Amino acid sequence: MKHFINLKDIPSADLKKIIIDAKNRKQKRKNYNTLEVDKDKPLKGKLLIQMFEKASLRTRLSFYLAIKQLGGGTITLRANELHLGKGGESLADTAKILSTYGDGFMLRTDSDKKIEEFSRYLKIPVINGLSPSSHPTQVLSDIFTVEEIKKKSISKLNICWIGDSNNVLNSLIAASVKFSFNLNIGCPKNYGPKKFVLDWVKKNKRKIHIFYDAKKAVKNADVIFSDKVISLNDKVNKNKKIKDFRNFQINSKLMSFAKKDTTFLHCLPRGEEVAADVFLGKNSEVWLQALNRVHVQKSILLYCFGKLR
Ligand code: CP
Ligand code: NVA
Repeated sequence: MKHFINLKDIPSADLKKIIIDAKNRKQKRKNYNTLEVDKDKPLKGKLLIQMFEKASLRTRLSFYLAIKQLGGGTITLRANELHLGKGGESLADTAKILSTYGDGFMLRTDSDKKIEEFSRYLKIPVINGLSPSSHPTQVLSDIFTVEEIKKKSISKLNICWIGDSNNVLNSLIAASVKFSFNLNIGCPKNYGPKKFVLDWVKKNKRKIHIFYDAKKAVKNADVIFSDKVISLNDKVNKNKKIKDFRNFQINSKLMSFAKKDTTFLHCLPRGEEVAADVFLGKNSEVWLQALNRVHVQKSILLYCFGKLR
C-alpha cells in the first residue's frame, strides 16, 4: 500500500508508471459506457471512502467513476457529520475506523497537517484530493493530458503557468522536477512561489523561470496553465489581490505572444483570470483535461492499492 500525498515525495519512476497505465487503460475503454467496469476488474470489492472539507465537483465525480470502473465502490462522508473535530473523536480513532471499514481514503482538506496525521494512523492508503499546499491528482492528470494532446514527452515541451502561487502551482513545480520539463511562471511581484519551494527545486538541481511580465512568460510556451486568483478559503484581501493580477489575465492579446498552437489548460472552476474567448477558444482543452482525471486517478488508485502492473 502507498499513500499519494505530494508529488515531490513520490519517485519519478512511479509517477511515469501511473501515466503509462492510464494511457493503456484509457485506450482499452473506447466505446465503453460510463459505468462499465474494466475487463480485469482490478479493484473488485474494494471501497474508497471520500471526504471533502471544501467544495468539489470534478474531484468528487472523477474518483466516483474511477473506483467504479475498476470494479469497486465509494461512499462520500460529510466532514461536518463526523465526530472528528467538534464532536471530540480523535483523528487516531477515526483513522482506525476508516481502516476497518474501507480500503482507501480520499481526502480534500483545509489542513496539510491533517492529511499527514491521517497517513500516520491509517492502515489504508490516503490520497490527497487537494490541500492548501498541493493538488497532486490534478497535476499528474494534467501531465497525461499534455502528452496526449502534444503526442510527445512533456520533457520536450515548454510549460507556462500564469497566475497565483497556489497549491496547483506547487504540484506543477514538483512535476517539473519529476518529469524534467521547462517551467516558466508569470505572476505579479510578491506573488511568486515560496522560498521553501524554490529551495527544493534548487536542491533537486533544476531551475524554474519567474517573470513579472506575462508576455515574457508565455513566449515559446507549448502549454499555458492557469487557475483562479482566489483559491478556496483564501484568507486575503480579495479586491486587492484581483487588482494586483489585472495584467495577468489570459486573453487573446496575451495568447498572441505565445505560439499559434499553444494549448490552454485550466483545472476549473474558472474566474476572471481567463477571458471567455480563450477559455472556450480553439486552443483550449479544458474539457478533455477534466475528463482525463478519471483515467489517471484509476491508475493512482491502482498504485495506492499495490495493483499497478
Ligand atoms: N479541479 C478540481 O479539483 O475541481 P473541483 O474543485 O471541482 O474538484
Ligand atoms: N487553487 C484552487 C484549485 C481548485 C481546484 C483552490 O485551491 O481553490
